[in-house]
Amino acid sequence: MRQKPKVTRTAAERNTQVTHTSVERRVELARAKVNLTLHVTGQRPDGYHLLDSLVAFPQIGDRLCAEPADRLELIINGPFARNLDGPAEENLIVKAVAAFAKSSGIPAPKLRIDLTKRLPVASGIGGGSSNAATMLRLLEDITGQYLAEDTLHELALSLGADVPVCLNQEPQIMTGIGDVIRQGPQLPKCGIVLVNPKVEVSTPDVFRSMARRDNPAMPLMPEVFESPDHLASYLATCRNDLQEPAISLCPEIDSTLSALEGSDHIKLARMSGSGATCFGLCEQEEALEVERALRASFGNWWIAAGALT
Ligand code: C5P
Repeated sequence: MRQKPKVTRTAAERNTQVTHTSVERRVELARAKVNLTLHVTGQRPDGYHLLDSLVAFPQIGDRLCAEPADRLELIINGPFARNLDGPAEENLIVKAVAAFAKSSGIPAPKLRIDLTKRLPVASGIGGGSSNAATMLRLLEDITGQYLAEDTLHELALSLGADVPVCLNQEPQIMTGIGDVIRQGPQLPKCGIVLVNPKVEVSTPDVFRSMARRDNPAMPLMPEVFESPDHLASYLATCRNDLQEPAISLCPEIDSTLSALEGSDHIKLARMSGSGATCFGLCEQEEALEVERALRASFGNWWIAAGALT
């Protein structure tokens, strides 16, 4: 059996909320992936776009629980369960199990996997990618088959461009098509409010609607952001290049940004990924107050508040 590589950390050691209810049952939070910036800097001949993006993983996510069973089974509950009504084998979690077994040369593990789908699907916060990445990490812990980090990275990439960055749910900078990842800056204690107007946007359609694909990369970034104001003032010099094309396809995104910007506590509001979810940054103590105020005015929207890291 391959030795556990030094760089691989157990779920408990990583920056994720973990509960071990028994030796064999694992529960983990698959955090939302928020693109604090998303610069599109070019396009590859195969059509994929080159990105420069600062990504954070707030304490808001789906709940993933896995335990040994007599067959592989995925059970989906939670407020957005009905948005994932396709065949189980098309779910990224099940694909991750099959890909992991193939890569590590073991039979597909027999597991009961419970997903509590709290994040809206196809919403620019990488819910499916985060589920798949979290499943890969859980599989390592459950099977004891720890893959080399580069093997795990390739496996994640085969499941989707955004899956590798979700393997370590810490601030990171993504370049390439999202597959070249480096450690991000130290982020301050900060609150975040995520808002989705409950509309799904197609990622390929948003990329296709871009007017320019050769935009400048992010300006030089400090290694440490001292405060939410420091972070917001840097982010104000950056962009999400998919925001404008997404708004042209889905005007509700503009209303979502206006709602966030209407709050006195919000220091910066922007769309994440290809939308439609938008985020607002504020002091950590004020995030719940912003969430409550938005809920009072926009009862039909999905709104969640939490700590940025
Ligand atoms: O790989 P993933 O399923 O996350 O990407 C969804 C779609 O988004 C791709 O099929 C592609 O059209 C577009 N995309 C892109 N450039 C990227 C990532 C995604 O054009 N870097």
